[in-house]
Amino acid sequence: MFIFMILGLLAGIQAQGTPVFVQTGTDLLLEVQEPVVLERLNVLTWRVNDSVNVVKLVYDIETVVSESYKSRAEFSAQNHSLLLKNVQKRDSGVYRASVSGDKEITVAEYSVTVLDPVSGVKLTVKLCSSDSTKVTVICSTEDSLISSTFTCDNQTCSHEGGERAEIITPGASLDVYLENGSVICNHSNQVSSTRDIQKIEDLCVKPIEISGVGFSIYRLKIYVVSIGLVIMMCAVISVHVVEKLKKKKLTTTSPPTILCGEFDH
Ligand SMILES: *[C@@H]1O[C@H](CO)[C@@H](O)[C@H](O)[C@H]1NC(C)=O
Ligand SMILES: *[C@@H]1O[C@H](CO)[C@@H](O)[C@H](O)[C@H]1NC(C)=O
Ligand SMILES: *[C@@H]1O[C@H](CO)[C@@H](O)[C@H](O)[C@H]1NC(C)=O
Ligand SMILES: *[C@@H]1O[C@H](CO)[C@@H](O)[C@H](O)[C@H]1NC(C)=O
Ligand SMILES: *[C@@H]1O[C@H](CO)[C@@H](O)[C@H](O)[C@H]1NC(C)=O
Repeated sequence: MFIFMILGLLAGIQAQGTPVFVQTGTDLLLEVQEPVVLERLNVLTWRVNDSVNVVKLVYDIETVVSESYKSRAEFSAQNHSLLLKNVQKRDSGVYRASVSGDKEITVAEYSVTVLDPVSGVKLTVKLCSSDSTKVTVICSTEDSLISSTFTCDNQTCSHEGGERAEIITPGASLDVYLENGSVICNHSNQVSSTRDIQKIEDLCVKPIEISGVGFSIYRLKIYVVSIGLVIMMCAVISVHVVEKLKKKKLTTTSPPTILCGEFDH
């Protein structure tokens, strides 16, 4: 039973055809892999997932590209290749070309996976020992991160260990390694890769600290000046209003402080 399952799995994998990875938005050319000999009324088809017809050629009568593929698929009558333009992720699937005459022969089979390019990657220093001989870096992407520790002895560094968080993007890999005195963080999948690179000797150089105290004093100054301005304006307006009211010999008593109350909000 178990063996049959394994055999079934293997057969399933084999039946998938040549793996092809292609980046979203690019064009994909699928060529026939076996020589094609067509006789009158033989039918050559390109199908996806054994269910969707892309193109159908009835030799030597007519070639029909399916309605949903008309604007984005090109079929070569000469060599029977199929060009899919601007592929999207939903175009992933098993593409099979077959010729049916007396019997059906498969002449091409591809397992196509359309992938987005990987996102950018960032290398940051998490820990630096006081003597700078041990450094832990974090290599992170939008949805995963990996940390890695290197022990350095003057110019030579070695990888000591690390841990990784689960990579959510399927098919992508995230790697951090040493090369030529630099730490390289590499995010890649079958169609693209991004990297961040930093020299080992630059990793433990602490950036010149912008004084936090200086910053808060600057802020405090702004606050003080603004509050002062508000109070001054309030005073001016109050005096002005009081004077006006006095001149008009007011009938109602509306205290000018309300104005300041409003101003404060
Ligand atoms: C088949 O035809 C297409 C379209 O004309 C062309 O791009 C491709 O290179 C051809 N393939 C071979 C093997 O000649
Ligand atoms: C083929 O099947 C796969 C998996 O079931 C699906 O994701 C894909 O969209 C299908 N492709 C087409 C063109 O229908
Ligand atoms: C590392 O460098 C220091 C000074 O530059 C030197 O004294 C020491 O011997 C070096 N250590 C090794 C293992 O090379
Ligand atoms: C290592 O760095 C040196 C100098 O920067 C450069 O000449 C050399 O090509 C680099 N080697 C590799 C394998 O990157
Ligand atoms: C990144 O890693 C992948 C897989 O490990 C590798 O194929 C690719 O060449 C690397 N890219 C760079 C720029 O080092």
